[in-house]
Amino acid sequence: MMKDKNPHFSFRLSCLVNGQETEREIESSRSLLEFIREDLGLKGTKEGCGEGECGACLVLVDGKAVNACLMTALQLQGKELVTIEGIKGRDGGLHPLQKTFMAEGAVQCGFCTPGLIVASEALLRRNPRATLGEIKLELTGNLCRCTGYEKVLSAVEKAKKLL
Ligand code: FES
Ligand code: FES
Repeated sequence: MMKDKNPHFSFRLSCLVNGQETEREIESSRSLLEFIREDLGLKGTKEGCGEGECGACLVLVDGKAVNACLMTALQLQGKELVTIEGIKGRDGGLHPLQKTFMAEGAVQCGFCTPGLIVASEALLRRNPRATLGEIKLELTGNLCRCTGYEKVLSAVEKAKKLL
């Protein structure tokens, strides 16, 4: 009989989720997106294409924006995960990006919004003075069928000044 070269196994995942120490027993085949939405119940992270094309599932892992649909939960071992639920202003209220997205009308159906905010937050953390060109480049992986992107770009530009 052929041996399964890639058997699934259970493991104990330890990580930081939105600032909280978290431990869960999960299957090695679990995607990071399944872990976030189904195991943690954090539904702000969206599932769009499931193939790394739309950016709806973006989250921060050790400060870097990654597509949760392309990672396994196992890859989160010992790392820090921040989802849209963990992105807040310094006072614990709305983050400047959330305020400017609303003020600029950059949110319509809202499906793409968590991914856009996560991508923008990742960019502004590493480059608080990002130019319009750099913002556009960062957001090329985020698909939005509603806004036409102009309002999104304007919201990120305005948030830059508030941060
Ligand atoms: S759901 Fe992950 S990139 Fe589309
Ligand atoms: S606001 Fe609807 S997909 Fe972007």
